[in-house]
Amino acid sequence: MTSILEKIEAHLQTHRVAAWVGTFRDYLTLVLQQPSLAQRAHSRLYTMIKSAGVRVDEAGKEHYTFFERDLFDIDEPLAKVVEYFKAAALGSDVGRRILLLYGPPSSGKSQLVILLKRGLEEFSHTPEGAVYAIADCPQHEDPLNLIPHALRREFQEETGIHVEGELCPLCALMLREKCQGDIYKVPVRRIFFSEKERCGIGTFVPSDPKSQDIAELVGSIDLSTIGDYGSESDPRAYRFDGELNVSNRGLMEFIEMLKADERFLYVLLTLAQEKNIKTGRFPLIYADECVIAHTNETEFNEFLANKKSEALHDRMIMVRIPYNLKVSQEERIYEKLLRQTNLQGLHIAPHALRVAAIFAILSRLEEPKIAGLTLLKKLKLYDGEDVEGFRQKDIKLIQEHTEREGMDGISPRFIINRISSSLIKPDTHCINPIDILRAIKDGMDSQGQLKKADRERYSQLIAEARREYDEIARNDVQKAFFVSFEQEAATLVDNYMDNVEAYLDHNKLTDPITGEEVPPDERLMRSLEQKVQVPEHGKESFRNEIFRKVAMAHRRGEKFDYTTHEKLKEAIEKQLFEERRDTIKLTISARSPDPEQVRKLNDVVETLIAREGYCAECANELLKYVSSLLAREK
Ligand SMILES: Nc1ncnc2c1ncn2[C@@H]1O[C@H](COP(=O)(O)OP(=O)(O)OP(=O)(O)O)[C@@H](O)[C@H]1O
Ligand SMILES: [Mg+2]
Ligand SMILES: [Zn+2]
Ligand SMILES: [Zn+2]
Repeated sequence: MTSILEKIEAHLQTHRVAAWVGTFRDYLTLVLQQPSLAQRAHSRLYTMIKSAGVRVDEAGKEHYTFFERDLFDIDEPLAKVVEYFKAAALGSDVGRRILLLYGPPSSGKSQLVILLKRGLEEFSHTPEGAVYAIADCPQHEDPLNLIPHALRREFQEETGIHVEGELCPLCALMLREKCQGDIYKVPVRRIFFSEKERCGIGTFVPSDPKSQDIAELVGSIDLSTIGDYGSESDPRAYRFDGELNVSNRGLMEFIEMLKADERFLYVLLTLAQEKNIKTGRFPLIYADECVIAHTNETEFNEFLANKKSEALHDRMIMVRIPYNLKVSQEERIYEKLLRQTNLQGLHIAPHALRVAAIFAILSRLEEPKIAGLTLLKKLKLYDGEDVEGFRQKDIKLIQEHTEREGMDGISPRFIINRISSSLIKPDTHCINPIDILRAIKDGMDSQGQLKKADRERYSQLIAEARREYDEIARNDVQKAFFVSFEQEAATLVDNYMDNVEAYLDHNKLTDPITGEEVPPDERLMRSLEQKVQVPEHGKESFRNEIFRKVAMAHRRGEKFDYTTHEKLKEAIEKQLFEERRDTIKLTISARSPDPEQVRKLNDVVETLIAREGYCAECANELLKYVSSLLAREK
């Protein structure tokens, strides 16, 4: 409890930055000490992202800590977005374009923009991200715009700072009338970006294209004050409160951009291209802000096909945001989204989210066109697991054979909605993987707009996810029948490795009991190897491979256990499970279990609860489910 209170206190401390107020003369001193204060919007965003941390992987790709807590596994699109900020920050023409994100529903487009917005708000509270503005400017404009044109070149030569902005009409008037042209006297203050307070961050949402007023973007004349000032073109009679005015120095999000009327798009283009807002009766007003728009793919394609909007096309940088394609990351998305709902008193059974994620990813993958590669193998490969015939290094080639992978399929939102809807059913305390698959299936059936072919494909994929679950379920139960599965597996691995070592070295082993020298136990080794279809002529290389793996782990100071080598793990599990198979089957399928069986079943339930995260309800469901699976086997 105290720790969170301390954190809140620390947060308040850093946010209670003394409001800085001064004159332009004072501000100039600050800028000369810290020239980064003069950076423009794109550059500030780029600095913000970078300052959170950048990790470069072995392939030389950059990963940004800034996004990592909320966006998983869409590193490539994120890198493109950052590339855009970087190029713009360096002053290239790219900064004069709008960033347009497009992709399937719930692929994280809004989330990306939210992160940038919240990030900017936070960043403006730090010394590095501090922002100052002319005190009374409704567009909180850059104080450096006060520097007269005649002096700008020299200013740049001396300070390295390029000033390109123009004073807004209101500030120009104030400078003339209140300060008698003395720029040094103009009041400046530190500002803090805040979407709520409409400072530096804005959002524009298109509504009915015919009736929506352009004032929402660029502000409007305040009719009630014209009388006071005598003229419509007096800047004091204008309200600079459009989203574009508000977002000056920061960021504006344009939601569903392509739904907006063309009038709005052209205003936006002028802004991006010329850095000007065309407002009412005034000359163009300078603005410096980053515009990020997003849209869905259908509208995006219509837009691209439309000759009339060609001028707009090359004024935009388009970044495709596809779905995540890794099961483990998809699980994290669900966990993240579920954390935002109230799950008190509800249990989500082990593997439930994983099974849902397997289905979701399957729905997003394109049918592989490479011999020997199945959809499921591809799914595992993408998630970092080597599979029969394919390794991590093959992913690149596999992806070259795809067209639009990640742009179709089931969204995380759909899965979460299905999970929620089964959680809120009366008398529900726990949902298991089968409940979730059923809920997904029901959801499919009630989705009217789904094409028949898709519906059928999805049904098959649900069945496929379920088969994956069958394996997992069986495994959990079988393991729980052992007092210590890990212990027994370790003993078996040790035994196997001793024999393999002796075999490879043409050595003998010492029998631990009799002390006799005995040849390696071929029967034991083959019994394990046959469990994973290692043929007689392949045993030599299999043994070599495992031996190398052990040596490698040893060299790296890592532990080698039965799970380190995928094939060996499978062999060990099969071996141990087979030995107990009949007991397990008899025990869990018994109609009227004897006292010994009852005791064992209780132990198994206890083990599932203590070791694997089950609750009593889902542990018992699991036993029932696996018993029905075993009953179907010969
Ligand atoms: N790759 C991802 N990593 C983490 N969270 C994700 C990812 N993709 C989607 N989400 C989560 O899914 C939810 C929906 O995403 P978001 O609202 O950003 O989608 P969107 O692309 O804006 O969709 P729409 O086109 O429907 O507006 C969000 O809570 C988001 O955090
Ligand atoms: Mg969205
Ligand atoms: Zn101004
Ligand atoms: Zn449970």
